Amino acid sequence: MSVIQVFGLTPLEGEISIQGSKNAVLPMAAASLLHRGITVLTNVPVIRDVACMVDILEYLGARCCHKGDCLVIDARHITGTSIPEKYVTAMRSSIVVLSALLGRMGEGRSCYPGGCLIGARPIDLHLMALEALGAEIKEHDGLIEARCRNKEGLKGTEIHLPYPSVGATEQAILASVLAKEVTVIHGAAKEPEISQLCRFLNNMGAVICGMGTDHVMIQGVEELHDSSFRVEGDRIVAGTYAAAVMAATGSITLKEVRAAELELPLEMLKRSGASVRKDSCCRQIRIEMKKRPQPLDIRTGPYPEFPTDLQSPYMAFLASGQGTSTIVEQVFEGRFATAKALGQMGAVVETEGQRAVIKGSYPLKGADVYASDLRGGAALAVAALAAEGKTLINDCRHIERGYEDICRDMAALGADIRWLDK
Ligand code: EPZ
Repeated sequence: MSVIQVFGLTPLEGEISIQGSKNAVLPMAAASLLHRGITVLTNVPVIRDVACMVDILEYLGARCCHKGDCLVIDARHITGTSIPEKYVTAMRSSIVVLSALLGRMGEGRSCYPGGCLIGARPIDLHLMALEALGAEIKEHDGLIEARCRNKEGLKGTEIHLPYPSVGATEQAILASVLAKEVTVIHGAAKEPEISQLCRFLNNMGAVICGMGTDHVMIQGVEELHDSSFRVEGDRIVAGTYAAAVMAATGSITLKEVRAAELELPLEMLKRSGASVRKDSCCRQIRIEMKKRPQPLDIRTGPYPEFPTDLQSPYMAFLASGQGTSTIVEQVFEGRFATAKALGQMGAVVETEGQRAVIKGSYPLKGADVYASDLRGGAALAVAALAAEGKTLINDCRHIERGYEDICRDMAALGADIRWLDK
């Protein structure tokens, strides 16, 4: 079991490059199945979720090579059509492989992903989009079987998403790329990872426009071609390290990240007392924090609203600030699990339904805590930087799903943090 040890109260100083985006690369890797050839992705993070996606692709017959930050996927010979249960339960986003299988093989099977620590996470909108495109979906004993109703494959249509779900939008896009005629997704998610996925697909020969808006249009094509694409920096990892300097104080530069994707989170840092300098042409953000964080009122929501993935790291630094902050979590109903562990560290956080009230207190106290989920685990590392004495964060496998090496990065910024068993 991986454990992180942190001794807090050291200001951060220095610069780091931000790893490639997890939530961008996962659907891209799945989409590579649509092409009967080679896809090369660079700036791919070395994290557990990418390893899991590679396992799925290999299980289905692709040959993959992930060396350094480069992932080569040879999908010339795909033989499988079922995503094994162990992968769907290990990583819920593996469900997006279903649409790639439908597009490539005309059928796909997956088990039904269950609930998890951040909320129920249903997939009704994914299935609705696939059905609208001409898939027949049968569900029995927790298994989903999807098959093209028509021998010619899926057919373009108008899809109306009642909520801009990231996963359902990706599922609909992947299913439409090789479908006949035109698909329009109304109410699409506008997250930067969706725009990146569309740019990646266009680079492979797909014809997609409107990404980044509510209406994404896909003109189906007969086939794709070999391509190479560089994944952008991970805005959530960057936001986590921004939260870290808020908790620890100091001055850091984050490189290889697009400030425009973090507009509201950076604005919140300024309101909380930081000086933020964005250098868009060099993809750099400099954050300087010299005092305790001032209180904020945050509401999470679909992009461009405040990202739910940064809710826990921001809660962590606000807990070590001054005054009373509030957070309303509007995306996942179960995403306050970290509040309890923060409480063990001396934080004063009260949650009721979707609302958390955080009363800043400084310093927090080092404690023996457990990471309950990916971002919540990273939030504990953020809180530990503002804590007196030793913090041990147990069960860090969740953190390793999305952060290449949180200890390497925070230590490069001067934090006293290390893995105990690596
Ligand atoms: C993606 O999850 C991200 N995961 C999440 O990242 C992120 O928190 C989330 O988008 C929101 O930004 C990946 O990209 C791999 P949604 P996803 O579908 O696609 C409801 C991280 O830490 N909904 O936009 O699952 C759902 O219950 C994570 O990296 C339905 O009701 O998010 C939720 O309340 C975890 N029916 C809301 O929509 C559906 O069919 C948003 O979910 C689908 C979703």
